[in-house]
Amino acid sequence: MGGFDDVESRSPARYSSMLGRGVGEARRRIVLVGLLAFFFLLTLVAFRRQDTIKDVVSKGLHHTANATASFAKQDTQADLQENTEPKDASFGEKYTSDPSSKPEVIYKSPVLGNGERSLTQDSLEALHNSSLGFGKVFVLNVPARSDKLDAMKLTASLTGFDFDIIKGINGKDVPKKALSGVWKESPGAGGIIGCWRGHMEFAGEVIRQGLSTALVMEDDADWDVSFRSQLELIALGSQTLLDSPKDQTPGSPYGDGWDLIWLGHCASQPDDGDNRRFVMKNDPTVTPPRHRTNYGGVPDMSPYDNSTRIMYFSKGSTCTYAYALSLHGARKMIKWLSMDIYSGPIDFGLHDMCSKKERGFKCIGVFPQIIADHKPAGSGSKDTDIGNGGDSIRQKGFSYNIVHSTRLNVDALIDGHEDQVTSQWPQEAPNLHGPITTEFQNEPQPNTDPANH
Ligand SMILES: *[C@@H]1O[C@H](CO)[C@@H](O)[C@H](O)[C@H]1NC(C)=O
Ligand SMILES: *[C@@H]1O[C@H](CO)[C@@H](O)[C@H](O)[C@H]1NC(C)=O
Ligand SMILES: *[C@@H]1O[C@H](CO)[C@@H](O)[C@H](O)[C@H]1NC(C)=O
Repeated sequence: MGGFDDVESRSPARYSSMLGRGVGEARRRIVLVGLLAFFFLLTLVAFRRQDTIKDVVSKGLHHTANATASFAKQDTQADLQENTEPKDASFGEKYTSDPSSKPEVIYKSPVLGNGERSLTQDSLEALHNSSLGFGKVFVLNVPARSDKLDAMKLTASLTGFDFDIIKGINGKDVPKKALSGVWKESPGAGGIIGCWRGHMEFAGEVIRQGLSTALVMEDDADWDVSFRSQLELIALGSQTLLDSPKDQTPGSPYGDGWDLIWLGHCASQPDDGDNRRFVMKNDPTVTPPRHRTNYGGVPDMSPYDNSTRIMYFSKGSTCTYAYALSLHGARKMIKWLSMDIYSGPIDFGLHDMCSKKERGFKCIGVFPQIIADHKPAGSGSKDTDIGNGGDSIRQKGFSYNIVHSTRLNVDALIDGHEDQVTSQWPQEAPNLHGPITTEFQNEPQPNTDPANH
């Protein structure tokens, strides 16, 4: 899990070997990220005094509200008719949100792009079910961290989805014989092993339950209050990249034939030489460039303006805050990362699978990410599930890369005050030129060079 295997505490050498950079570069980057985080905190403090915050956000949210008025009605219908049949109770615990507590949809994004493609009504309805259009949603949680589960129950319910719990395991309790390959002893090995094991449990459940797709989130994940609307765009993007037949509803609303869609990460790279991009412009939920915090190479965003998000075929990501797997993908993941010889952090393993493409592993990336990690207010030791993450007291929580953080807006959402939702970076709200528009591009792109970011 994110806290369990704290990415920031991993050695720079390990990063640079994966990303093909020198150690010095990785160190500089970590220092830079530290500075950015510091400035970010400073700006947060400054912004708290700004009264303009609400205007900016509501402008951002309203802009898109008008774009799809016709869909909003249908979506509400779909929500009301939601399937509430009992679920398989044989694994872990269940958490079911109270359907009556679902918030109004905050803003609707257009599902029609440049007219080339749209989601069918069936895809759209599936996206609005209680598992977000996936077979199931799972949350990885180490049982002792009830605090993280509490927060996840609340934010999932406010967003309107249910999840099953995968119980995380402390790496110390995984016997050597159960490991794949030879794991190097290191201070962080327990966390890395526990995290690897938790994700293996997830893939195992996808297979055991025969789910055609599933989404997993680590228990410190956070997302924008407009998550459900974002997922419509993600589904449209994924169907577009996969070139799904335009007049048919694919088996999954996210299209068929993918193995992994990496929604929540801390760096992501497009496939080298693959220029296909699904471009979403004028999106008020795109992290302002200055506040994009990543620990590795990211796509070249210079062809786009600051409020553009893109999707692409990906050679991998770093950090596993959230990703979707297909059944096919889950099978390959178990074979590759448990049955074969593998000994390393889970995200590096998935990155390998995405970049080597052995067994035809097909990964889709999104940047900026739509799910990231939340750092709650309170003791710094909350951040990690093992040992002591630090004794300092954080006065205010924050989330990396998420504009209208659900965790930071729970007060407004509990009270049904969607109009009071705030951005983490209100002064950098983008200049939107109308509703979100989408476009498929296949132009030569400059190569992604991690050193340029
Ligand atoms: C959207 O509609 C609302 C209410 O009808 C209106 O006040 C607002 O100006 C509209 N926004 C845009 C961007 O057209
Ligand atoms: C939601 O939709 C997906 C895709 O059609 C489906 O696999 C899943 O079973 C649905 N979830 C529920 C709770 O009905
Ligand atoms: C886009 O972001 C960059 C980097 O923060 C900034 O310098 C630039 O002014 C922004 N552009 C606009 C149009 O806001």
